[in-house]
Amino acid sequence: MTAPHATDAAPVLPSLEGADAPFGLYLHVPFCATRCGYCDFNTYTAGELGASTSPQAWADAIDGELALARGVVGDAAVSTVFVGGGTPSLLGGDGLAALLDTARRHFRFADDAEVTTESNPESTSPEFFARLREAGFTRISLGMQSAAAHVLKVLDRTHTPGRAVAAAKEARAAGFEHVNLDLIYGTPGESDDDLRASLDAVLDAGVDHVSAYALIVEDGTALARRIRRGELPDTDDDVLAHRYEMLDGALQDAGFDWYEVSNWSRSEAGRCRHNELYWEGANWWGAGPGAHGHVAGTRVWNVKHPARYAEAVAGGALPLAGHEVLTAEDRHVEDVMLRVRMRSGIPVSVLRPDEIARAEDEVAVGNLGRLGDAYVLTDAGRLLADGVVRRLLD
Ligand SMILES: C[S@@+](CC[C@H](N)C(=O)[O-])C[C@H]1O[C@@H](n2cnc3c(N)ncnc32)[C@H](O)[C@@H]1O
Ligand code: SF4
Repeated sequence: MTAPHATDAAPVLPSLEGADAPFGLYLHVPFCATRCGYCDFNTYTAGELGASTSPQAWADAIDGELALARGVVGDAAVSTVFVGGGTPSLLGGDGLAALLDTARRHFRFADDAEVTTESNPESTSPEFFARLREAGFTRISLGMQSAAAHVLKVLDRTHTPGRAVAAAKEARAAGFEHVNLDLIYGTPGESDDDLRASLDAVLDAGVDHVSAYALIVEDGTALARRIRRGELPDTDDDVLAHRYEMLDGALQDAGFDWYEVSNWSRSEAGRCRHNELYWEGANWWGAGPGAHGHVAGTRVWNVKHPARYAEAVAGGALPLAGHEVLTAEDRHVEDVMLRVRMRSGIPVSVLRPDEIARAEDEVAVGNLGRLGDAYVLTDAGRLLADGVVRRLLD
């Protein structure tokens, strides 16, 4: 990966000891049973990895990287942990419990730390959730995507339509108060009725959080090739906007509130604090192959391939592929991009005079409203969030 201000020299990362801002840990699990045709995340099937590495080698390397990370950031209390992938649930309850123990051996967790793991519905069970609860996880995020069998098929998802809801109920029965379901909308072949059925299923699951993302057709994926060959229709912006309105309407009627353009929760306690930490530009360490982190204005990212990553850690150095020292301008652009999308909005004090003038133009056309000291997206503006950001930063 390259970035505009990337440099070759090792980054100078300060200790975060004593800092009162939240500090997060992201732990990347780079394994999937099969690759979904739409996904370009840094993940590998067993066939792709062959004998080059193993889950045990990855676990040892995470252990080594966290020891190095602790040496850099010092005794900073961890406020949130997010185990993402890939498919963390492929590690099983014991594997995820061991990963959390590893993190705890290196870092002190805050008493109220939020500890989330992503899971794929097909690799979960009541025993799995019970083990996670016992190990100290506090939040489960399940990749549901859709309740329509033909949509799951286009996405190459291997779970049956009912499995995600059943898994969410099992997680709740195991004592998880905070459970998220991820939806994807706008998949080729999805109808309004399909989305309505997915929403009914989400509401039946009794979860307190929903993330819903429009399908992104990523270059180089099997899905992009199928669309290019004409086997599947491309996504349509008008359809996506209509589906977003359907989602938002159904979720609001059921007592959810949006707190970021693609995220809804039933209460403030149900929000994902780890994602909020990203959006607010706080500090986090990203451990694992290809993981990204941010420490006091420097962005860092790890080498992507699990075998190269493990080799780098075994060599005793941070397994970095690159880093970028953010300029004041970079930080400003990022702040605007991320905070406009949040319900708390962008504080007027963050904007420059020309940006305030353009924000007032967006107020005049109904995309932004003024709430106290912040500009906040209106319902109409949420459909056009990317355009609002572009025009503000013009
Ligand atoms: C990368 S996955 C990792 C967790 C888990 N393996 C899963 O699939 O749910 C996290 C979320 O990103 C979503 N995602 C991945 N690629 C996407 C794309 N091209 N467009 C929209 N959402 C995508 C997934 O569907 C999933 O809900
Ligand atoms: S299961 Fe998740 S991470 Fe794995 S390929 Fe599918 S979307 Fe990507």
